[in-house]
Amino acid sequence: MLDESKNQLLTQVGRGTPMGELLRRYWMPIAAVTEFDSQAIKPVRLMGEDLTLYKDLSGTFGLVDRHCPHRRADLSYGFVEECGLRCNYHGWLFNEQGRCMEQPFEDMSAPEARFRDKVRVRAYPVEVKAGLIWAYLGPQPVPLVPNWEPFTWKNGFVQIVFADIPCNWLQCQENSIDPVHFEWMHMNWSLRLRDEFGPYSPRHLRLEFDEFEYGIAYRRIREGMSESDPLWKVGRVCLWPNALFPGDHFEWRVPVDDENTLSVTWAFSRVPKEREPYVQERIPAWHGPVSETDTGRWVTSHIMNQDFVAWVGQGRIADRTQEHLGTSDRGVLMLRKRFFADLDALARGEDPKAVIRDPVLNRCIPLPVAERRYLAEGVSRDELLRHPLLGRQLTEGYPFQLGQPEEVRKAYLEAMGTA
Ligand code: FES
Ligand SMILES: [Fe+2]
Repeated sequence: MLDESKNQLLTQVGRGTPMGELLRRYWMPIAAVTEFDSQAIKPVRLMGEDLTLYKDLSGTFGLVDRHCPHRRADLSYGFVEECGLRCNYHGWLFNEQGRCMEQPFEDMSAPEARFRDKVRVRAYPVEVKAGLIWAYLGPQPVPLVPNWEPFTWKNGFVQIVFADIPCNWLQCQENSIDPVHFEWMHMNWSLRLRDEFGPYSPRHLRLEFDEFEYGIAYRRIREGMSESDPLWKVGRVCLWPNALFPGDHFEWRVPVDDENTLSVTWAFSRVPKEREPYVQERIPAWHGPVSETDTGRWVTSHIMNQDFVAWVGQGRIADRTQEHLGTSDRGVLMLRKRFFADLDALARGEDPKAVIRDPVLNRCIPLPVAERRYLAEGVSRDELLRHPLLGRQLTEGYPFQLGQPEEVRKAYLEAMGTA
């Protein structure tokens, strides 16, 4: 349980709020590179700031204010030039550093005034990595976009999936450190959704949470499981500051504002040994619905859609003054404690947890991966098919979110050699 002021402290993401400043110390994934195959401009809202993401004609990405500094027109309706983004109202042109490059009428009427040198648009650094576009809204010096180990894996088919979640990011992230929900929300509830009454999932018997440099790993023993099981020996990862990393994918909970979150998934499917060497030419991206069109009720059919039901069910901003935490919530407490400690560290002028600045380290940052052999090394098709989670995707479709487009399914099956 948190008191009202602590709950506010942890959930506010706006500029100038303590947590908003903390979150601005990290790069956030905000879009996929291939979204810009068919469009040059995308409006983006990030941590309460309305922005415009664009790719100019020379291929440079820029992230600038949503509003033109001239008379505040919407720059997401502008158009891109060889270098930069031009406002559609009076043609002022800005580059990715925020410099005003042209003011067509002023440049003609009073060139000596050089008014354009006195005007800037707010601009933030963007970087491309792993098929994602990342943004940094914090102070200098800018840290590195983490090069997590799976970004370096070969012979994989990657897809990027988005969803708009109408609630605060923190309750989404608290789900990243919550092993027991797996048994009830994904196993037992799924069974009941199929109108089956049993057998229920093996119960959780023991939990451990271990903080490490880049997050908190959680480990579990369920009925019938031995201590040599990778889910006990290695576990899963609540990745700092706003992601879940269960081995084969990342799920970032990107704060849009205090009451909205963009869910960004980067999912890796290792092709069977028989298909190697495989090189993916294009990382597809798609956006999945979260509610049913006819009833307006939340989608419940897929793993992450089920998680979304839990998150939004907690309210726009979960009221943590009303909760009752038990021993299963030890990880949630650790996560909050770390954020409070990092708010103090930030106030002392220190970096918070998992800000990466060392380029040598960043060549490849290893993470705990329970199914390492299946993902980093690769297995035969037969072995893959026998894996209870990883094999399922081949026969049953994308398990995490509803709405995978047909062409992505086709590309996936083609990559896996089963098209
Ligand atoms: S408002 Fe953008 S150029 Fe005038
Ligand atoms: Fe879940």
